[in-house]
Amino acid sequence: MNKSLRPAVIAGNWKMNKTPDEAVTLIKELIPLVKDADCEVVACVPFVDLHAAIEAAKGTNIKIGAQNCHWEKSGAFTGEVSAEMLKAVGAEYVIIGHSERRTLFGDNDLTVQKRTRAALNAGLKVILCVGEYLEQREQGITTEVVRIQTKIALLGVAKEELKNIIIAYEPVWAIGTGKTATAEQANEVNKAIRDLIAELYGKDAADAMVIQYGGSMNAGNAEELLAQPDVDGGLIGGASLKAEDFSKIVAAASK
Ligand code: PGA
Repeated sequence: MNKSLRPAVIAGNWKMNKTPDEAVTLIKELIPLVKDADCEVVACVPFVDLHAAIEAAKGTNIKIGAQNCHWEKSGAFTGEVSAEMLKAVGAEYVIIGHSERRTLFGDNDLTVQKRTRAALNAGLKVILCVGEYLEQREQGITTEVVRIQTKIALLGVAKEELKNIIIAYEPVWAIGTGKTATAEQANEVNKAIRDLIAELYGKDAADAMVIQYGGSMNAGNAEELLAQPDVDGGLIGGASLKAEDFSKIVAAASK
């Protein structure tokens, strides 16, 4: 990873885990373990945990984010939360377009684009998730799929806004399955995304873009993945729920 060009970002995606009390416990366990991190440390928590997690992380190097937001500021959207609401409660980051949202909750490239736009407008940092299904990899169309997902999500995003976007390449077949992409596979797709950013915005923008890998990243495989030149961090699901495991990944990114 080229730290002179871009900081590593290790983000936990807690998914639908932890009550507010449990969130505070986990954040408090994490604080001493990651306090000397030489990378950005983020925890993306369930909506109901945001307030407690933000309070617990105050004054530390742990940043707190959410896992989704709606594109409208307010209105008749039962069950949704707007980007403005996240900002108002003190969230700094939001994950957009996670494959579980796409597969289980009907998110698609166009809604991902709208959510991204809204999050940027609200002053949030976006962790934009892209990634192929196993069948798509087997058909040899991984690069095309990821390029299209990225291109649509970034429609209307200006170059100067890119500093507020992180892209997370997450092959769907590697999420929560224990199957990790090899370091070479991860780097190949991350590089294809960086090449797309160069095409769309220029080489300087591509060099500055933080592109994570996600999908069964853990304490055992993080170092090899993070050593790849185009892997600038990780989006961590399962291994973010245990302070010790997560802190080992943070330590690997800090080397
Ligand atoms: P996992 O999840 O680390 O449990 O595979 C990653 C993610 O879904 O972001």
